[in-house]
Amino acid sequence: MRSSGPDIVPFYAGEINRRAAALSRAGQSIIPMHLGQPTRGPSEATIAAAQRALVAGPNGYWESHELKERLTEHYREWYGVEVAPERILLTNGASAALVAVFAAMFATGERIALARPGYPAYRNTLTALGRVPVELDCGAASRYRLTASVLAALDPAPHGVVVASPANPTGTMLDAAELQALADECKRRDIVFISDEIYHGVTYRGRSVSALEVTQDAIVINSFSKFCRMPGWRLGWLVVPPPLIEKLQMYVGNFFLTAPNVAQAAAVAALGDGNELRGAIIEYARNRELLLRELPKLGILPVVEPEGAFYIYADVSRYTRSSLEFCHQLLEQTGIALAPGVDFDPVGGGPFVRFFTAVSTHEIEQALERLEKWLAR
Ligand SMILES: Cc1ncc(COP(=O)(O)O)c(C=O)c1O
Repeated sequence: MRSSGPDIVPFYAGEINRRAAALSRAGQSIIPMHLGQPTRGPSEATIAAAQRALVAGPNGYWESHELKERLTEHYREWYGVEVAPERILLTNGASAALVAVFAAMFATGERIALARPGYPAYRNTLTALGRVPVELDCGAASRYRLTASVLAALDPAPHGVVVASPANPTGTMLDAAELQALADECKRRDIVFISDEIYHGVTYRGRSVSALEVTQDAIVINSFSKFCRMPGWRLGWLVVPPPLIEKLQMYVGNFFLTAPNVAQAAAVAALGDGNELRGAIIEYARNRELLLRELPKLGILPVVEPEGAFYIYADVSRYTRSSLEFCHQLLEQTGIALAPGVDFDPVGGGPFVRFFTAVSTHEIEQALERLEKWLAR
């Protein structure tokens, strides 16, 4: 049958996920370290608020003004910046925000700069929409980050740039000075600056800085999937500069109508639950330490010590040049599910894998035991 949209590659971690689910249904014990979904669910207060909303409604297409006001407060509390509720658009996760922003801000054929390694859906969504991802090889020297100097060296200037700090898959961060330099470079060359702040709050060294602390011109994307541990609730948000509110509202509204209503009602409670949510970071930090210490003993070398997010991107070149095959074999033979490096870096990702660290510490210990036995064979 005819299908003229651009072809895109799979999200390989999704393939691993489908196979892991099938193995789990067949009774195999799976350690799910492939997707970025915390094992712990949302906070109790979040679930209680959702239960109330299920009974009391609202039950329609609905936008929570209360949630937008709570997000305004969140920006004050976390970053000391003023963001009027009108500048906040609620979306079906960060994923929908990315689709709306890529569609609204760029024309077919326009070029958007991204870090490689980076989050695969940036590249694949841009390609599907007829925009052109310009992947910049951001290696160890720049701690895998797309910095202002990398952007400045790009000639001609791209039409947009997307950065994530903390980053997926490396967990490295951009500080205020680096974000400022990026914002200045974007202003100088009229580049749309998109800051994906989905891992904010999940940090191990210092706090994550928002692009809104250094510029009012950035488009900021965020979500309840990570810090608030609500990935399946499909709720995220955009903060947009005032001149773009109306246009982006039209894109978000036409594409997705409204975000899930129960999730919106529950998210107000989630934002009030900072202490409980921060408690989980202690476990993620413990898991991160354990893996950083033990993986090198198995010949698996983390490329950097992540400062945030809940991943460890590691070099497995001692064992393979094809991380996709490696991940499939590992899953079949041990039940450990990892994400292959080719997801994040289609050019050089062959000898890399990504470990997700927000499972329980017991699962990390089990994974290390199974890995050691498997690699020894
Ligand atoms: C960097 C980054 N951005 C966006 C997303 C999409 O998240 P969601 O649609 O669940 O909010 C993810 C998911 O893992 C991510 O890692």
